[in-house]
Amino acid sequence: MAPQSRPPSRMAPLGMLLGLLMAFCFTFCLSRQNQEFALTNPEKSSTKETEKTETKAEEELNTEVLEVFHPTHEWQALGPGQAVPAGSHVRVNLQTGAREVKLQYEDKFRNNLRGSKKGKRLDVNTNTYTSQDLKNALAKFKEGAEVESSKEDKARQAEVKRLFRPIEELKKDFDELNVVIETDMQIMVRLINKFNSSTSSLEEKIAALFDLEYYVHQMDNARDLLSFGGLQVVINGLNSTEPLVKEYAAFVLGAAFSSNPRVQVEAVEGGALQKLLVILATEQPLTAKKKVLFALCSLLRHFPYAQQQFLKLGGLQVLRSLVQEKGTEVLAVRVVTLLYDLVTEKMFAEEEAELTQDTSPEKLQQYRQVHLLPGLREQGWCEITAHLLALPGHDAREKVLQTLGALLATCRDHYRRDPSLGRTLASLQAEYEALASLELQDGEDEGYFRDLLGSVKSLLKELR
Ligand SMILES: *[C@@H]1O[C@H](CO)[C@@H](O)[C@H](O)[C@H]1NC(C)=O
Ligand SMILES: *[C@@H]1O[C@H](CO)[C@@H](O)[C@H](O)[C@H]1NC(C)=O
Repeated sequence: MAPQSRPPSRMAPLGMLLGLLMAFCFTFCLSRQNQEFALTNPEKSSTKETEKTETKAEEELNTEVLEVFHPTHEWQALGPGQAVPAGSHVRVNLQTGAREVKLQYEDKFRNNLRGSKKGKRLDVNTNTYTSQDLKNALAKFKEGAEVESSKEDKARQAEVKRLFRPIEELKKDFDELNVVIETDMQIMVRLINKFNSSTSSLEEKIAALFDLEYYVHQMDNARDLLSFGGLQVVINGLNSTEPLVKEYAAFVLGAAFSSNPRVQVEAVEGGALQKLLVILATEQPLTAKKKVLFALCSLLRHFPYAQQQFLKLGGLQVLRSLVQEKGTEVLAVRVVTLLYDLVTEKMFAEEEAELTQDTSPEKLQQYRQVHLLPGLREQGWCEITAHLLALPGHDAREKVLQTLGALLATCRDHYRRDPSLGRTLASLQAEYEALASLELQDGEDEGYFRDLLGSVKSLLKELR
């Protein structure tokens, strides 16, 4: 648990608290997503598999501190933090869930290239909007998004450069080994064709989506996916009757939406929001709902227009039913965290606009039209969040506590009138006093439990 993810221990000046909450909120969705879904997290990588492959290529390539995996002609398991060079063949072992990788043979490459040329669609008409209202709102949003994304692009490119060898270098190395490298675009076209083909088996479709997720983490790739109509194919995958296809389509979309305004805009236009909510509102396996919720979070974050639509489509009711189902505690915590993110994101945008005049007026206007807090209050979220504090698990409680804090101004009356909330807080106070003092004995003066205790105490004080 990262230290910055905890609320400060005292309620001191409210402005400062909000500032901290918001600074944290800004990065939270991203970091959470990275923990679970990113495949290029260097901390988690293992070098075990790479040690096995002692080819010439390996010796040449190994001079960099990269987590790029160097495949051979045998299938080998791919570690969680490892990236593969473009052109490798990656499959999912459906028995073990492990990703396996090997080099592709040249003739296969040629077929793939031929296949991808055939499948290329360059005549996609992206100008057919569903309504004038949508068109105007999106056009305005896009203006804001362009500026923002060019900044993001630069930072991202620098980061990618820092972490990976230039593709040209890799290509040269592979050329010497007589291996042909497909571009990311060719690979994505191939994967989409595989997924979209009626002759592919379920297993092949899932494997294609699984591989695709890896590529769309890169912003440029996600936009390329858009450009040839691949994004819509994946969005339509949410309509599949196969729960696994829904699940993995959501997995890809969650990665593609993440901090990628252009893709988010096109996805809302392509009906993604509605489809995601339909899945959450109907009976589906928990694993599918988890990934769908992740995709929803990714779509809503930093995109006020989608947040408005979410509220209009009854998103809060859908989430309410979701957290009230039995056996969905994991989802409940994520839902609460999403709401926390949205509440603090809006406050942050409005506060930032006041302080710096940096926010684009259209974007601010859009945030102002997200009537989230009144919706939460009307639909019983004050009570729901208060009840969720009874969940076991410190992490869950941490998330609920921070949400209770963010909803305090809106829900104070409800909280005060709720005797079980007072009791729960009192018993948490006793529990965390004990744990915090143990923590202190261990020499941790910036302890986790001390922070939780601080949040509990400040809530109790506010509710007095
Ligand atoms: C997916 O398949 C449908 C029907 O087979 C076809 O009309 C569509 O063009 C395909 N989409 C892409 C992006 O290949
Ligand atoms: C997908 O499902 C939604 C709602 O379940 C429905 O409105 C829509 O027409 C479906 N789209 C396709 C392409 O089947």
